[in-house]
Amino acid sequence: MNIGILGLGTVGGGVVNVLNKNQSEIARRSGASIQVTHAAVRDINQDRICPTDDLQLTQDPFEIVNNTNIDIVLELMGGTGLAKELVETAIKNGKHVITANKALIATHGNELLALAKDNNVHLLFEAAVAGGIPILKSLEQGLSANKIEMLAGIINGTGNFILTEMRDKGRDFADVLKEAQALGYAEADPTFDVEGIDAAHKLAILASIAFGCELQFDKVSTEGISKIEGEDVTFATELGYSIKHLGIAKQIDGKMQMRVHPTLIPKTRLLANVDGVMNAVLVKGNAVGPTLYYGAGAGDEATASAVIADLVDIIKGTVSDDILGWQSFETMPHQTVDEIESIFYLRLLATDKPGVLADITTVFAKHNISVEAVIQKQIDAQNNAHIAIITNQVKTGEINAAVNEIQKNDFIQETVKIIHVETLD
Ligand code: NAP
Ligand code: HSE
Repeated sequence: MNIGILGLGTVGGGVVNVLNKNQSEIARRSGASIQVTHAAVRDINQDRICPTDDLQLTQDPFEIVNNTNIDIVLELMGGTGLAKELVETAIKNGKHVITANKALIATHGNELLALAKDNNVHLLFEAAVAGGIPILKSLEQGLSANKIEMLAGIINGTGNFILTEMRDKGRDFADVLKEAQALGYAEADPTFDVEGIDAAHKLAILASIAFGCELQFDKVSTEGISKIEGEDVTFATELGYSIKHLGIAKQIDGKMQMRVHPTLIPKTRLLANVDGVMNAVLVKGNAVGPTLYYGAGAGDEATASAVIADLVDIIKGTVSDDILGWQSFETMPHQTVDEIESIFYLRLLATDKPGVLADITTVFAKHNISVEAVIQKQIDAQNNAHIAIITNQVKTGEINAAVNEIQKNDFIQETVKIIHVETLD
């Protein structure tokens, strides 16, 4: 099997290094000797993290997807423009394609998978979700007996790395982001990591495989990590929670919900203790119950591990014709954001005067919201009370309506902060 790689950066370089390092194990497991013969890069003179002596380098990626001697193309460039054109060309030329590009799969996966099926080739993307964790293979194979009820995961390594460093070392956001970029964790456009877009891409892929429906990236409700402030971390800690950036997908009464947002999780949960670049995905099946998958969410060799696992599957011939079972599934209906039920954390800055808490709870009562926990910090120099509240489980539409009403009071001094809470029971 001759392999051509599009992109020899963090992931592409990692693939070449792992293929060299674990040559005999990979040959034993795949039953074949794997040769990476060609690689396309933007700048042929740039230093690489892997040896290139045995590779034919080109600055024209079409040379690879049109090369009749290449059997499998690894798309490790990123982006959804040129990358899509190259993947389509490779598929039409009868080549199997493996990609780590979640943006491409989340936004164009339905049509690309159909094209692969029509051309009788495979399009695999284990590395697109949760770096080195074989979560797609676990869903497709290990959990195939289950109806998946929900999944929740820390699925962006950069975001988790930033949150951990800020919390544990008090480091500055921008400074940690720069380090994540230097380590090769971040996307080419790091706002994808910070604003939750990368996690939303991954969640759309996870949900479609878990629930057996088409990819619906446009239905993911997405919030990034930039809204988390130090005071929220302090309150969360006092209330017994950690704040994590979670992707959550649930199937409730035949409707699906997909959301990515900062989330308070009880400190006792395993997910609350997943730190740094590590990712973890909790999957609940109706037969197996809760299962948890943990590992490096980004980085060269960890991601290469997932790319090469797909390569071994193709070479061994162990990929089914319709690996995801998608071809027979329709678009699954969605809950609207207002319908989604959750527990909420609210943080309020209110003038310290009699009746403030009574006024707040009166609005809650009107919307059928009850208070599970409340903390009020000492009054600050401006005579304001810092208040954190944990509610019961309530529809998002109700909490938003209640907060809008509370916000109108003169005693509220800044925008009320709302963060989801998940007990992950
Ligand atoms: P990267 O380090 O920036 O590498 C991208 C590679 O693509 C570079 O070698 C670049 O060439 C090459 N390239 C870009 N545009 C090109 C063009 N027009 N023609 C030829 N070559 C081109 O990116 P990466 O971190 O490896 O990410 C690659 C893909 O994997 C992305 O889809 C990303 O989302 C995904 N991914 C990354 C990670 C991770 O930990 N980094 C994990 C999972 C998935 P030059 O080197 O010459 O610039
Ligand atoms: N930028 C991504 C992350 C790479 O940090 O999780 C892995 O998909």
